[in-house]
Amino acid sequence: MKIALLVHSHTGNTLSVAEKLKETLQKDGHDVELRKLEPVGGENTNEIDINRIKFDPEPELSGYDTIIIGAPVRGFSISPVLAAYLNKVPTLKGQKVDLFVTQAFPYAWMGGNSAVKKMISTCEGKGATVGKTAIVNWKSKNREQLIQNLLDKLGHR
Ligand SMILES: Cc1cc2nc3c(=O)[nH]c(=O)nc-3n(C[C@H](O)[C@H](O)[C@H](O)COP(=O)(O)O)c2cc1C
Repeated sequence: MKIALLVHSHTGNTLSVAEKLKETLQKDGHDVELRKLEPVGGENTNEIDINRIKFDPEPELSGYDTIIIGAPVRGFSISPVLAAYLNKVPTLKGQKVDLFVTQAFPYAWMGGNSAVKKMISTCEGKGATVGKTAIVNWKSKNREQLIQNLLDKLGHR
């Protein structure tokens, strides 16, 4: 299966999980392309106007059997960089999407659940079908277990 692993990560937490997920999927024989979302000029974490966040090249996500999206929670919602990217993607019609977030706070109700909800509605708004989701709470004492749960859930198909 050809899988795009689309990742926004500013301080590396989400990327570290994505790299483990890539390894797990590859061990299962999948062709995984990890694509990092990097706005032109680097990321300004105070920027919330998604129209001011640019990408070069422009987003394009066709030709994959599945897309897995990973991003940090920002202000109890979707990260502006990911929102900007998805806003610019022409369509996700017929596309299968799984997604995950990392968040600092130890409980999913502290932003993770609402961010995932917003990510689902954004992807569905582009025509995608969202399947599995996962949340890693970085300051949870169970962080390693949460990462393992994510690998078990999203790493096999
Ligand atoms: C502007 C901003 C807003 C954030 N908002 C939240 C939040 O609402 N809930 C939360 O748990 N963590 C929040 N965080 C923390 C990040 O989601 C968390 O550190 C994440 O793991 C960072 O991922 P990264 O290292 O891949 O960038 C916020 C971080 C920043 C910079």
